[in-house]
Amino acid sequence: MTVVVFGSINLDLVIEVPRLPVKGETVIGDRFFAVAGGKGANQAVAIAKLGIPVSLVGQVGEDSFGQTLISGLQAEGVDTSGITINPHTYSGIASIVVDSTGANTIACAGGANNLVREKELEQFKLLLPQAKIVLLELAIPLATVLIAAREAKANDCCLILDPAPIRYELPEELYSLIDIITPNEVEASQLVGFTVDGVTTAKQAASFLHQMGVKNVIITLGSQGCLYSNESESFWIKSIPVSVVDTVAAGDAFNGALAAALALGKSLKDAVQWGTVGGALAVTRNGAQSSLPSKDTFGQLLNQQILLE
Ligand code: RIB
Repeated sequence: MTVVVFGSINLDLVIEVPRLPVKGETVIGDRFFAVAGGKGANQAVAIAKLGIPVSLVGQVGEDSFGQTLISGLQAEGVDTSGITINPHTYSGIASIVVDSTGANTIACAGGANNLVREKELEQFKLLLPQAKIVLLELAIPLATVLIAAREAKANDCCLILDPAPIRYELPEELYSLIDIITPNEVEASQLVGFTVDGVTTAKQAASFLHQMGVKNVIITLGSQGCLYSNESESFWIKSIPVSVVDTVAAGDAFNGALAAALALGKSLKDAVQWGTVGGALAVTRNGAQSSLPSKDTFGQLLNQQILLE
């Protein structure tokens, strides 16, 4: 497999509301749907849809959701041999509220994702010899992420960390293992301890992350675009104007397309452009995996962007 994603698998329970509730408030919406989600699973599907061989390592519970989620991943072409089924817990659930502007809030019951440990690390190690790129995120235990990062680097893989969600301070060792880190503005602010909300603060955040030992930093800022930075250069990529329906999984689509481009041997600059196209398309449709673009749709928008350059 060219890409191995190690991360979370959820069933997303989504309610559309006119506006997001504030603390203590109930807001009545109209539409409800249950769709396949979870950051790791979404990223793996984004990669598979672009035609790149990908394996997902993770855990589901022994319940009907778990089986459905695995079957869905298989139908999208994701290798699920690295997913374990735990009879002692439930599959991850995300409770998502999306407002009329496409903004969302998410609360997750981690379930099986919280128990991803030795068994899954064993599966991960079996897949590493064929892996070129490893994509990790933080909705599984941090100790597992750190071991997986060490293993990925020992196998000379390019290691991408999507630092979402930020639950703890990241250990210094983890920073030094990361080839590419991809926070959005909220995660970047949490990592660096000041507000990241535009070009200047994103550049300051990137230099902080370089000092922590990360080689390449990509900070996404939604409609403002994204910053790419390494220790010798940085550039800004504008966002692509689209009608936003639902921003859930935009970051996963970005990371998936980025990893797919790198697996194809594209330059980092091109890979960031791929990420931007993936993220832009994902926000035009509802849901998580249901919003991820097909290879054709992706190719059309990518070509338009290349012509505009
Ligand atoms: O990144 C989006 C994902 O975050 C959703 O699919 C949900 O499962 C949450 O984990």
